[in-house]
Amino acid sequence: MKLPDADHAVTAAADPRFRADVLAGLAMRPRAIPARWFYDRRGSELFEEITRLPEYYPTRTETALLHDAVPEVARRTGAGRAVVEFGSGSSAKTPILLGGIDPAAYVPIDISGEFLRDSAAQLQQAFPDLPVHPVEADFLRPVTLPGAIADQPKLGFFPGSTIGNMEPYAAADLLRAMRGSLGEGAQLLIGIDRVKAEDVLVPAYDDAQGVTAAFNRNLLDRINRELEGTIPVEDFAHKAVWNDALSRIEMHLEASRDVAFTVAGETFDIAAGETIHTENSHKYGERGTRVLLRTGGWTPIGEWRDPQGWFALILAEAQPFPAAP
Ligand code: AVI
Repeated sequence: MKLPDADHAVTAAADPRFRADVLAGLAMRPRAIPARWFYDRRGSELFEEITRLPEYYPTRTETALLHDAVPEVARRTGAGRAVVEFGSGSSAKTPILLGGIDPAAYVPIDISGEFLRDSAAQLQQAFPDLPVHPVEADFLRPVTLPGAIADQPKLGFFPGSTIGNMEPYAAADLLRAMRGSLGEGAQLLIGIDRVKAEDVLVPAYDDAQGVTAAFNRNLLDRINRELEGTIPVEDFAHKAVWNDALSRIEMHLEASRDVAFTVAGETFDIAAGETIHTENSHKYGERGTRVLLRTGGWTPIGEWRDPQGWFALILAEAQPFPAAP
């Protein structure tokens, strides 16, 4: 039997969706690659580092908020709900929620089986009597929940303002899909990052230690590693800019000189100053948050904010749709 050569093996092992997104994204104008491809093992480690940076306020603000809010959340949700976490990742905030309410089960959903198994095992150790049913799935698509929780009332958990990484139309689609998966009567506890001063926002995405720059550029390293790329990574600079009209921080990789490279056998030329758009992080105002949730079929029933109003935790309910004029 003929074994594939090493280079060919790299391409064969690569996720075909990654390959398709990268090739299409590098060919389009403006060039853009979906942010979900940041999260290989190295990218996930760098993201964990970001969450501990002094400039990156969302994680510590939301964690403190969750500690404060959880007794009231428990009163409003009631005991016996199955907690369904969308994109559980490393589940750092989950023990605060599970320890503060009286859940019937925990269902972490994540696209990365490796992360999912590790975090589910950790959770199971911390809560030995709680039934844990991990689901390996892309929660951006409709998810079938385990039969074991079919009859239990549900509480969706979507912290971290991950919703902000989606275009508003996609965020609304996702919220509607969550409503469909969890069912009428379900509740959703969601973290949403707020609009604030540009001199707070930009450093949160362009920190002094360069961790976010490394996170952004790791995408190019990943392309080189997994798709036989020859991108000169050192010739791309990390950029984080506030786009006020679209209420979002944008991350880009800007070519510092004219570059030519190949990815999976295809050639690309990028002129000096041209960028590859790699992430949007939308920030919502008070009214915008409520409109977004209602667009997705969720009625806000509780809201908690830190004293500076930088971050919000919202409890929303999938109520029957009211008669409308
Ligand atoms: C995962 N997500 C909510 C982060 C954010 O703030 O948009 C990703 C991130 N990108 C750069 N820093 C953090």
